[in-house]
This record gives sequence, C-alpha cells and structure tokens, in this order.
Amino acid sequence: MRILAVVGARPNFMKVAPMARAFKSSAVDFTIVHTGQHYDQAMSQSFFDELDIPRPNLNLEVGSGTHAQQTAEIMRRFEPACLDLKPDWVLVVGDVNSTAACSLVATKLGIPVCHVEAGLRSRDRAMPEEINRLVTDVISDLLLTTCHEADHNLLAEGIPAEKIHMVGNTMIDTLAHMLPKAAQRQMPGRFGVEPGAYGVVTLHRPSNVDSPEILADLLGTLEAVQSELPLVFAIHPRTRKNIASFGLQGRLDAMNQVRLCDPLSYLDFLDLYRNSRLVLTDSGGIQEETSWLKIPCITMRENTERGVTVELGTNYLTGVARERILKAFGEVMEGRGKPGGGIPLWDGRAAERICDIFLAMS
Ligand code: UD1
Repeated sequence: MRILAVVGARPNFMKVAPMARAFKSSAVDFTIVHTGQHYDQAMSQSFFDELDIPRPNLNLEVGSGTHAQQTAEIMRRFEPACLDLKPDWVLVVGDVNSTAACSLVATKLGIPVCHVEAGLRSRDRAMPEEINRLVTDVISDLLLTTCHEADHNLLAEGIPAEKIHMVGNTMIDTLAHMLPKAAQRQMPGRFGVEPGAYGVVTLHRPSNVDSPEILADLLGTLEAVQSELPLVFAIHPRTRKNIASFGLQGRLDAMNQVRLCDPLSYLDFLDLYRNSRLVLTDSGGIQEETSWLKIPCITMRENTERGVTVELGTNYLTGVARERILKAFGEVMEGRGKPGGGIPLWDGRAAERICDIFLAMS
C-alpha cells in the first residue's frame, strides 16, 4: 500500500512527522509531497531538520498568492504527481489551502482521501480554514479526529459513522516526543527573561492582522500587558509586513518590555512557551499544545474550532476586545488560571493508531 501524505504550511509538518515515524517500520510506503505553500527556512525547512521528517519525494513549489491562485496552482501541480506516484490513499492534515486543494484533486482521480484532524468547526465561514475543513471533510473517505466534539460535528453533517475514527492528536505526539530535546534549548535566557516570568505572543490570522484598526487595537492591548509582564513576540511574515505597511512599527518598537523575533524553529518555540507564564495567540495549534502542557493560553479570536481546549484545557477564548483579554490576563496572573490536561487520547500515540487502521485495511 502506498500513502501519499501532503504537507504545505507550517502547522502541517508536526502533524505528519509522527506518522512518517510510525509507518517507517511497516509494510506501507509513506511518501511525502510538499506543496511549497510555505517556503522560508523558518516556516518550512527548519521543521524537517528538527523533527527528522524524511525529505519530501517532491516539492511542488507553489509559493504565495491569492487564495484562488494558490489553491489552483496546488491542484494543477498535484494532479500529475498523483498520476505519476499512483497512491492507494492521499492523506491530508489540518485545514490549510494545501489540504483542501489536494483532497479535491485526489477524489476526482478516484483516489480515496484520509483527513487527519477532521471535524473541527469554528462555524465562522469568513475564516479560510473553515472552508478548507468543510470541503475536505465532505469528500474524505476516512475521517480521523482528535476529540469527541469533532465526531459529533461530522455525524451532524451526515458523514457515516463507519468513516469516522477518533485517534487522538498527532500534533501532541510530536510535542510529547520532542519535549526532552526542546528542554536543552535554554530559550528564556536567550531573550533575557526568567522562566515563568514572561508571556509569549503570536498573531497571524488575516481577521486580526489584515485590518489596520484591529491590528492597532491589539498592539494597544499588548502595550498594556507588557507593562506588567515582559513579552516575547515571534512575528509571522504576514504580520511583520502589515505592521510596517500600516505605519505601526514605531509603536511596537516603543514597547520596551517586548522582545521581537522572527518565527522560531519548532524546538526553540516549544522551549520558549513551555517555560512561559502564559501565551497570547490567535493560532489554532497553540491552543492545543498549551492545553496539554498546562500553560495558560489567551486566544484572541471570536471563535475556536478547538472547543475541547476551552472546556478541558487551559484556553480562554476572549475575542479581540481589550477588556476581555485583560480580564483573562488578570485571572492568570492572580494564579486563578484553568488547570488543563486530561484530554482523552492526547497521549502521544495517535500516529500508532492511524498506522493500525491502515494496516487493518491493507
Ligand atoms: C497559512 C494557513 C493558516 C496557518 C498558517 C500558519 C491557509 C489558508 N492558511 O496562513 O491556516 O495557520 O499558514 O503559518 O492555508 N510568507 C512568507 N514566507 C513563507 C510563507 C508565507 O513570507 O514561507 C508570507 C507571504 O507574503 C504570503 C503570506 O506570508 O503571502 C501568507 O502566507 P499564506 O501561505 O498565504 O498563508 P498564512 O497566513 O501563512
């Protein structure tokens, strides 16, 4: 059996890494195709190096573009790859443009599609990832989920129960596996902050960083937070560009308790947030990673597709309003944060379960 696994953007790499490891010692051929949606060293190659992911057999080098351009270009280049490599399954992960584009191509070629991290729903169709999730799930043949909530979402959409398997979270597999290595990185010292006495910030959602008003407002909130707790802000390329073009750079530079840096490698970032007092973010995956590590997370979004992290984890869904962010911040600083931990099947063994499902079919 040959599985063609697709990766495209930063959050995909850590989801595929444990599967590559699990399938290595099996009879299944696990071949990786990189669409090239992310291409910078910091956004792509560093993950392959640190997570020991086998080199992709093919890189489609699509690069950036509008959603239509990027999606179309991935589809145009992925189709001949499928025809050439003749996989028995195409496996896609997460919710990025590469996920939806490649599942569409495969299904039209009659190749069954497996979606890992199926069923998550923010119910916000203005979010590009939500469209990618809906499109991918409706055409997938095997839907592997991270939580009960995702199973319920899929069943409510009419997906037959026999296509759905809750397997756990492959991103947490990687986190558990990489923790000892990350612990050697000494990241707080590199930024001149003390363990447990700083916050970590990431921001990149178009709904937050493509609007000058919202981005300026969020920077105002960070200004208030940093007056109480030093912050390390790892800036995504999209956010960096927008801060400059909206004329906000001076304002950010004037915050003397904010340390700015480019996107960090997987291990550096893990060591940074696992030692932090709290994380402020609009990322999807970080809500899960902090919940597992029991680090408080303030999610500056109006909705989340990862409700399990609010319910059982350490996540506060605050939206972007300053008073709500500062209220959650106050609770955490007073030591009244959520305890977190204990999300079912987030035990570092999701990839093994996925491997077993395919072996049972082969
Ligand atoms: C993509 C995913 C998002 C994920 C995020 C993680 C979609 C719809 N979005 O968003 O779900 O959370 O990745 O980072 O697939 N750029 C670079 N170097 C790179 C990649 C991008 O400079 O290696 C810049 C380009 O200017 C590009 C912009 O970032 O136009 C946005 O990249 P894109 O891939 O369109 O989406 P992300 O915002 O990264």
